Amino acid sequence: MTSQPHGGVLVNRIVDAETFSPKAAAHDIELDDIAISDLELIANGAYSPLEGFLKEKDYLSVVRDMRLSNGVPWSIPITLPVDERKAEELQAGSWASLSKNGEIYGWIEVEEIYVSQKDTEAANVYQTTELEHPGVKKLFDRPDYYVGGPIHLVKRPPRKHSEVYYLDPEETRQEFEELGWKKVVGFQTRNPVHRAHEHIQKTALETVDGLFLNPLVGETKSDDVPSDVRLKSYHVLLDNYYPKDRVFLAVFNAAMRYAGPREAIFHATVRKNFGCTHFIVGRDHAGVGDYYGTYDAQKIFSHFTEDELGITPLFFEHSFYCHTCKAMVSSKTCPHDKSQHVILSGTKVREMLRNGEKPPETFSRPEVAGILIEGLQKVTQ
Ligand code: ADX
Repeated sequence: MTSQPHGGVLVNRIVDAETFSPKAAAHDIELDDIAISDLELIANGAYSPLEGFLKEKDYLSVVRDMRLSNGVPWSIPITLPVDERKAEELQAGSWASLSKNGEIYGWIEVEEIYVSQKDTEAANVYQTTELEHPGVKKLFDRPDYYVGGPIHLVKRPPRKHSEVYYLDPEETRQEFEELGWKKVVGFQTRNPVHRAHEHIQKTALETVDGLFLNPLVGETKSDDVPSDVRLKSYHVLLDNYYPKDRVFLAVFNAAMRYAGPREAIFHATVRKNFGCTHFIVGRDHAGVGDYYGTYDAQKIFSHFTEDELGITPLFFEHSFYCHTCKAMVSSKTCPHDKSQHVILSGTKVREMLRNGEKPPETFSRPEVAGILIEGLQKVTQ
């Protein structure tokens, strides 16, 4: 048995475009990249129990208390921003089509149009209002009015990658069941899988049946490794170093918020909907710069009981290679001093890769480094 969906029921708001008859829509809302991915993730149940974009009461409750107004934990506001002109045009009680580049992907039953509270949203969700924070910047770049109400999806958004990577929660649940996995650990990543990631994944795998490798491929900041390059790197790693019947790879098509602790709760909740029973949270999960403490994304889980979250977090210390231990270790398992440890910053590694230089084998498998060098050089050409 896989985990129960968050809130009890796996939401399904996908309708058949042929037979679906929306209430006459006088207006259209143009979706940005974040909103179109959120639309699909609401519709396919990845964001269960959400059935639409948040209305004001839920929005304020999520921002303030990390809970929907009915008390169910929910840590990231899923909102549909529109500008003032559109907000004035729209009418509560009517429907609006949801489109991108002239193509309709869904409909919203407009129940509310309200003014966002971005300062409070930034301060609470991101713990900063600084525009240098990429999530905060994005928040303030988006329009100021939010439209709330249930949605219907009539068409799948365009794909960046092969369709085989895009599975709905219902499908991943089915896959885990067919594989006979009772305990499934979810792994969120926006990066290539380096030795530290591999170490924590495999340590987790020692105690569960399967690993759900679920890289985020929605919008990320420009200096993150592009998802097509990452996908290639995951395959080369899985083909060479992981038992085939213990790993399942599918993408998570959401935008990265870089909201650290709050996003760790969100990431765990969504993976629960995909059927995971466990979720890995390592160092500075979903963090950026120095905005969050190394283990803040672990500490935040103590705000909730395991019962109300319904997924067991697996916490890992900062892992690295130790030359004296000749193994991947952490401060919990290694007595040696820093001079023995291979610790490289993300910026440093990206710089090496862009210059065609492989990071040490103790940091990244050479096959992975090779793919990254090739991919990143293409990007910068
Ligand atoms: S994230 O933004 O998606 O969290 P990343 O892909 O780097 O970034 O991390 C994926 C997961 O691995 C997160 O849970 C993160 O905390 C964990 N992690 C990354 N690097 C390390 C490390 N060196 N030691 C322990 N955990 C790590």
